[in-house]
Amino acid sequence: MNEPTLDKFPPKVLAKIGVERAFIVSRLIVAAERLQLFRLLQNKRMKAEALGRALKIHRLYLDVFLNSLVSLGLLRKANDIYWNTALTQKYFIDERSIYWTRQYSKECVQSYAALNLLEKTLTSGRSYKSIKRLHTLNYTEAMKRDRHRAEDFTQMLFHLHREDAEALTNYLDLSERRAVLDAGGGSGVMAIALAKKNPHLRTCILDIAPVCRIAAENVRRARMSTRVATLPGDIRKQLPAGYDVIMFCDIGPISKRLLENAYKSLPAKGLIVLVDRYLSKDGTQPLDRLIGQFVASSVRPTTWADMVKVVKSCGFRSVKARNEHGDLWFITGIKVRPRTTG
Ligand SMILES: C[S@@+](CC[C@H](N)C(=O)[O-])C[C@H]1O[C@@H](n2cnc3c(N)ncnc32)[C@H](O)[C@@H]1O
Repeated sequence: MNEPTLDKFPPKVLAKIGVERAFIVSRLIVAAERLQLFRLLQNKRMKAEALGRALKIHRLYLDVFLNSLVSLGLLRKANDIYWNTALTQKYFIDERSIYWTRQYSKECVQSYAALNLLEKTLTSGRSYKSIKRLHTLNYTEAMKRDRHRAEDFTQMLFHLHREDAEALTNYLDLSERRAVLDAGGGSGVMAIALAKKNPHLRTCILDIAPVCRIAAENVRRARMSTRVATLPGDIRKQLPAGYDVIMFCDIGPISKRLLENAYKSLPAKGLIVLVDRYLSKDGTQPLDRLIGQFVASSVRPTTWADMVKVVKSCGFRSVKARNEHGDLWFITGIKVRPRTTG
């Protein structure tokens, strides 16, 4: 997966974008995504008027909007006819599923609203939602109520996490393992990849029911239904037994309680696997995780070193943390023997 990071843009375009203007530029691109302009122009050339009609853009803003995108290097223009540039085709169409277009552009718009109150957030220590007294559902509850939301979010991650899944399968040696529980397994991208790479292995995606239905479809399409199962449930409750590997990939903050539950459900010598973009020891990387704090979640991200401490404190031994792929960390640990309480 490749993101249209700024280095992908022509240098002469970038040189014209001042830091303050970057906000407007970014919002324009998100508007183009939300209106699905680039998808409308896929393998097509269209006149401004036809584009305006199809996307319901007012004539007052039509030309300036399209021309700004030409100026940015995202569209080309000749005689009032517009088409996608190679950059647009590659990063906004070929390498981006429709779910990503829809979900990500929606999240961006929510972020802009939150950023309007950034100074207030910084000085009060309160999140955007608390300042605005927004009583929104958490994302799992929202997905339970709206199947389109569940589909956009889950299938966006199916696409986005493919490279992470490949890195994980290359890193983990599961030759001696029998069954993996992918807790909060979402689309099944990880569980499917692990089962494909290890033909002896069974995997199971534990997630909320609407997400499991989407994952089951992905498993069926991957022709892996005999070895990859889905299990609707709540990862905060007792985790099912019968798995010698329990994995948590990108499920947000992992509490000590969650890890203790995993410890209880694993057999002796069972393996715990955590996969996430943890902060560096000094808290200065990765940038994405840091700035996400101002728009998405008010839960402080954890450093990989702190996560290692929590894993050890739950009784896991031979705990290893490896940064094998981009900003992604893999933390593993082994359950030595059943823990005695008291
Ligand atoms: C960001 S997604 C990651 C999905 C997948 N692990 C991956 O790496 O692509 C987090 C997933 O955890 C699931 N999840 C969060 N809280 C949960 C809970 N209490 N019980 C079951 N699933 C939960 C969500 O529904 C979502 O599918």
